[in-house]
Amino acid sequence: MSKVIKNGTIVTADRTWKADVLIEGETIKAIGADLKGDETIDATDAYVMPGGIDPHTHMEMPFMGTHAAETFESGTFAAATGGTTMLVDFVLPGPDGSILKAMDDWDRKSAPQISVDIGYHVAIADWNETIHGEMAEVVRRGVNTFKHFMAYKGALMIDDDEMFASFRRCAELGALPLVHAENGDVVAALQEKYMAEGLTGPEGHAFSRPPEVEGEAANRAIMIADAANVPLYVVHVSCEQAHEAIRRARQKGMRVYGEPLIQHLTLDDSEYFNKDWDYSARRVMSPPFRNKEHQAGLWAGLQAGSLQVVATDHCAFTTEQKRMGLKGFPMIPNGTGGLEDRMPMLWTEGVETGRLTPNEFVAVTSSNIAKILNVYPKKGAIVEGADADIVVWDPKLSKTITAAAQKSIIDYNVFEGREVSALPRYTLSRGEVVWADGQNSAPQPGRGRFVPRPAFPSQNVALTKWKALTAPRGVKRDPRNIPSGV
Ligand code: URP
Ligand code: ZN
Ligand code: ZN
Repeated sequence: MSKVIKNGTIVTADRTWKADVLIEGETIKAIGADLKGDETIDATDAYVMPGGIDPHTHMEMPFMGTHAAETFESGTFAAATGGTTMLVDFVLPGPDGSILKAMDDWDRKSAPQISVDIGYHVAIADWNETIHGEMAEVVRRGVNTFKHFMAYKGALMIDDDEMFASFRRCAELGALPLVHAENGDVVAALQEKYMAEGLTGPEGHAFSRPPEVEGEAANRAIMIADAANVPLYVVHVSCEQAHEAIRRARQKGMRVYGEPLIQHLTLDDSEYFNKDWDYSARRVMSPPFRNKEHQAGLWAGLQAGSLQVVATDHCAFTTEQKRMGLKGFPMIPNGTGGLEDRMPMLWTEGVETGRLTPNEFVAVTSSNIAKILNVYPKKGAIVEGADADIVVWDPKLSKTITAAAQKSIIDYNVFEGREVSALPRYTLSRGEVVWADGQNSAPQPGRGRFVPRPAFPSQNVALTKWKALTAPRGVKRDPRNIPSGV
């Protein structure tokens, strides 16, 4: 059974042209003029783009004494309605500490529910011989990224020596380390201070996590990655201090990537000063929203290429769950939604305003992360042989975002009332239409697949050459001489 997407304008990260796309089964078979298929999907006056990839989500994640309310089923449906055809979710080890068992748990939960494709990042929340050994098996099973939380003291936070050991292990295995960059010790001290001073509401959350704690941690993680001779991906970059660290590292020739979130690009810190406690608490996430200058810097980073990816960090809690923090902001579960709205919001605030070209939009919502995660061009591309993960993007469809109409399970939306000026007419996942505007039917739970991502065989070559060139005379800086292991 074949399908042809007809009369659209294809927009990829590097070019724009008019052509039809023929899909056979799950893959793109041909791209060209006047193609014929058993079924036709009309893309007249629309753009045909690679489906979005959201590389940062937390479905059903156990966190801060509760679980993220978004399920793999509701979350992947929400993703499809917003044009996202793959998400990468964070696997957290359970009380036994095993990252392999944690991956099994995530498989058990996600497999029967997902309706678009999924990948994992695995969190390193401790360091010992078992984790060192299990990391190799995690990579063999198709996860080439490991996450390190520098915040959440007493829970997920990892110390520098552990992080360095894990980064070196990533270098050995051809894996990419990720960091949540915030200085967890300073955050904990500031939380204590503001609580003691009686500043217990959601605004205390923003005060306790100033940009400096993020900038310091980003700089530290970059230094540690440099010492471990491994690239680095900094998640949810929210401020100029962290962005500046990334920019500087890249100028030095380091391979460091930065991921701003659609929330940080479009919502600012005034959200925490709303008189309605629920309103502000629903927006509590880490790092917090920043002021407009930081926002402008993030947009500039996407334009200049010093930031490469726009994600959501979708970690959705209900208002009831947020009320766990009524007595003090440190107990408000951290996280917001955004999975459904990332692409329409970015188009509206990015492309419609002239900040991003449509090609840049594709780059930062799909192609760049597919390359960074080593799944390009299977994902993130419109090219023969690629998975037919495609969004037929209609720049004439519009809506006002409301919680009442969303697919996400939670009872509010941080973008409530915002107008978006483009939406998917169709979303296709591996050749199947999983969302059609006006039909409102949900895709089959369980049809989504786990996408294995191979290790990076030569990821350090360029970096190693650069180091050899810049090493002080007489000093041999061969990364193979760095002792590995625990
Ligand atoms: O507030 C946030 N970001 N919650 C999700 C966990 C994390 O830090 O990514
Ligand atoms: Zn985080
Ligand atoms: Zn996160």
